[in-house]
Amino acid sequence: MAPIVPLSEAVRQCVAEAIGYAVPEITEADPQLRRSDRADFQVNGILGLAKALRKNPRELAGKVAEHIPLGDLIAGYEVSGPGFINLTVTPSAILDRASGRLADDRLGVPPAAAPGTTVIDYSQPNIAKEMHVGHLRSTIIGDALVRILEFGGETVHRQNHIGDWGTQFGMLIQYLAEHPEADAPDTGGTDDGPSMSRLNRLYRAARAEFDGDPAFADRARTRVVALQAGDRATVDAWRRIVDESKVYFNAVYDRLGVRLQNADAVGESFYNDMLADVCADLEESGVAVRSDGALCVFFDDIKGADGQPVPLIVRKSDGGYGYATTDLAAIRHRRNALGADRILYVVDSRQALHFRMVFETARRAGWIDDGLQVLHLPFGTVLGKDGKPFKTRSGETVRLMDLLDEAVDRAAAVVSEKNPGLSPDELAPRAAQVGIGAVKYADLSTSRSRDYLFDVDRMVSLNGDTGAYLQYAHARIRSVLRRAPQDVTPQAHGTLALEPSERALGLALDAFGDAVGAAAAGFEPHRLAAYLFDLASAFTAFYEHCPVLKAGDRRVLENRLLLCGLTGETLRLGMELLGLEAPERL
Ligand code: ARG
Repeated sequence: MAPIVPLSEAVRQCVAEAIGYAVPEITEADPQLRRSDRADFQVNGILGLAKALRKNPRELAGKVAEHIPLGDLIAGYEVSGPGFINLTVTPSAILDRASGRLADDRLGVPPAAAPGTTVIDYSQPNIAKEMHVGHLRSTIIGDALVRILEFGGETVHRQNHIGDWGTQFGMLIQYLAEHPEADAPDTGGTDDGPSMSRLNRLYRAARAEFDGDPAFADRARTRVVALQAGDRATVDAWRRIVDESKVYFNAVYDRLGVRLQNADAVGESFYNDMLADVCADLEESGVAVRSDGALCVFFDDIKGADGQPVPLIVRKSDGGYGYATTDLAAIRHRRNALGADRILYVVDSRQALHFRMVFETARRAGWIDDGLQVLHLPFGTVLGKDGKPFKTRSGETVRLMDLLDEAVDRAAAVVSEKNPGLSPDELAPRAAQVGIGAVKYADLSTSRSRDYLFDVDRMVSLNGDTGAYLQYAHARIRSVLRRAPQDVTPQAHGTLALEPSERALGLALDAFGDAVGAAAAGFEPHRLAAYLFDLASAFTAFYEHCPVLKAGDRRVLENRLLLCGLTGETLRLGMELLGLEAPERL
């Protein structure tokens, strides 16, 4: 089905043509169309145009308005203020579009104009460590971006850059070798599977011995060398630890409804074999130079507190490689092997300097050029109710599973208050949908770079800018549609006048594609979240003012069912693009 031209675009074209007739010397004028409280749309561009042409703006607005054709699209106009034109569109323009959208899987939203290949690096937990709220943000935002970009037709490669390599493995493996009892399977039986609590304990015990016993620390370092050299038993032990952690990560992804799979977990270790070559290239091309035995890249504009340049170290003086070297190898791989023309990194804003240095280095080396866009999409910190970075009372990172449990528990209370008779079996899945949706929406509705407060009670509220509010609006619509008489079909009757709240809802529905486009263009899921909240609010207002099932007139009923139906579908698809579930009942 052909994409549907949104009203804003159709009206814009119409006004642009009118400007062309009124002022033939202007070839391309931007009418600067805005939605308005006074009318459906307001033309703001006449003022600037008049200024450029040294004309009286109000007169010019009048002249342009005379050339605006009244008919199928535009029902009326009014010149207002110093030179605005207020425009009202016809009910049929609103309703016919609504019915066209409802008949289409994509709700009339066209794919992106020029889709390409995007690699998106997100989630990125660290092996043998608990995932924390920072990983939660990256996972949720990354997943929403994947969905939004794929909807636009983009080829997307998910890359979960897990921290599965580094010196800490020497310590873990050595500890296991010396304390075989620590390898015993855990019978603790927490809900995230026994593996993670066991790995956590292992990590702490190994760390304590590493910090407290220099001889153990030496043996751990020897173990790192063995791991890097590919020693069979050491590599086997490493793989067991990695696999066990992945089981836990997958449990989190499953619970979150995130589309990350084992195949997407391309961690730091994957690049290990490429690091020597990356360094050789950088040294040969002169991008990196030796400094105190290390191989470094220097930048004019990056200096430490002491005024000395801070280099990016790509090879340490002991010959070891670091986090940055891996990221450089990853850029080459993603470009050459995955065919990326864009790489996105959904990573904490505290790593901004790291990415600046890595990208600049890759640019100098010629691995990033005009054919490859690389972007760090930084996100802010999750704060506790005290306004400080979210931690447990004892100052530890909050276990993600505990946090999700809490959200689901609170959601269960909200859902059972609404539906006192639910059996535990009926309650559990709904509570999960609402609780997880609440956590995800709270994150996605905040602009990416801002910090936000983790407040579970607010998140699961049915009122306000919450995921539960969207789900509730959707469920109400589904209930209306279930109760509608079998013999009526939602359909457009454009000859009937529209109530203001019907008109407002119809116009909001027509702007869905713009919101999806804005979210995709700026990699900003919160634009879509804000749109869905506005849409749900427009629906709430409509539902208060306009009886649907008791409309009386059959044609009014059909119009309103059309608006309800499309609102339900728009909320459902919009939530799906954010990764939220839209339950049939709440
Ligand atoms: N694992 C890292 C951390 O937990 C984040 C990795 C980000 N991605 C990357 N390509 N450097 O901080």
